[in-house]
Amino acid sequence: MSTPSAAIPGDGSTPPPGSTEADDGLEPAGPAARVLTPAELAATREQHEILAEGALLRADQLVAGYVAGVNILNSCDFYLKQGELVGIIGPNGAGKSTLLKALFGLIPVRSGKVTLREEDITSAAAHVLVSAGVGFVPQNNNVFPSLTIEENMQMGLYLRPKKFTERFEFVTGIFPLLGQRKRVKAGSLSGGERQMVAMGRALMMEPSVLLLDEPSAGLSPVLQDEVFIRCRRINAAGVSIIMVEQNARRCLQICDRGYVLDQGRNAYTDTGQSLMNDPKVIELYLGTLAKA
Ligand SMILES: Nc1ncnc2c1ncn2[C@@H]1O[C@H](COP(=O)(O)OP(=O)(O)O)[C@@H](O)[C@H]1O
Ligand SMILES: [Mg+2]
Repeated sequence: MSTPSAAIPGDGSTPPPGSTEADDGLEPAGPAARVLTPAELAATREQHEILAEGALLRADQLVAGYVAGVNILNSCDFYLKQGELVGIIGPNGAGKSTLLKALFGLIPVRSGKVTLREEDITSAAAHVLVSAGVGFVPQNNNVFPSLTIEENMQMGLYLRPKKFTERFEFVTGIFPLLGQRKRVKAGSLSGGERQMVAMGRALMMEPSVLLLDEPSAGLSPVLQDEVFIRCRRINAAGVSIIMVEQNARRCLQICDRGYVLDQGRNAYTDTGQSLMNDPKVIELYLGTLAKA
């Protein structure tokens, strides 16, 4: 069932800071009722249905969690259109990683569905998703440390060994260092280099969609910038990207569209630029720390 468009993410029991009107009656909204901002409106179920039309990948009313009886995703809506770079930001524990895992079939979806090119892929096996063109780079443990860079790339292409040369050329075009250091064991690389290996490995499979979980985490500011630039380049090469980021401001700067996830629901969505300038989003999620 869809909820009223003015519903608050989560269980609806706590109004967002700044809203003084308790609008939980069945009366039509009076002039005093709070008007949703464009980013809040776009995040409503009704608008999602309209905006997600024809999306490459979409999630509808996803409910998922780890422990029986505890839902982490609470009717989460999401969509990615062909060619987009979409950022997902939100507080720690909001369910960002959980959403990526649910999209990639890594945790059981309790209700709702995930579709790729309008085909139901809810809870599909990883190899099915990879063959369908979905690549996932988890935040941690995303390389084989005892294998060389080249061997890591081969692991990415185990389903189609003949394509190796062609894909390796593409990957080293984006990450030249992976070609230069191909005989080096991934375990001896720095955090930034490992991140390149992980992204390169996913790109070997020629994905049409790439899911990235905090690709800039743990890197120096210079390397973080490097990652964002590479993401743009990968996107420009035709790969649609979903990027979860803790570096919210930088993420919104480079993405076409962003989502603010809160308590397992999509609270705001708009262009990256608009979200970055949205007073509510600044107050609640970007804060003073992120202004630097
Ligand atoms: N493997 C797990 N088992 C149980 N709970 C988990 C697990 N992973 C995450 N959680 C819980 O799910 C919630 C959302 O986590 P997560 O999706 O990782 O948040 P985010 O990526 O937005 O920081 C948190 O409350 C977290 O404690
Ligand atoms: Mg996370």
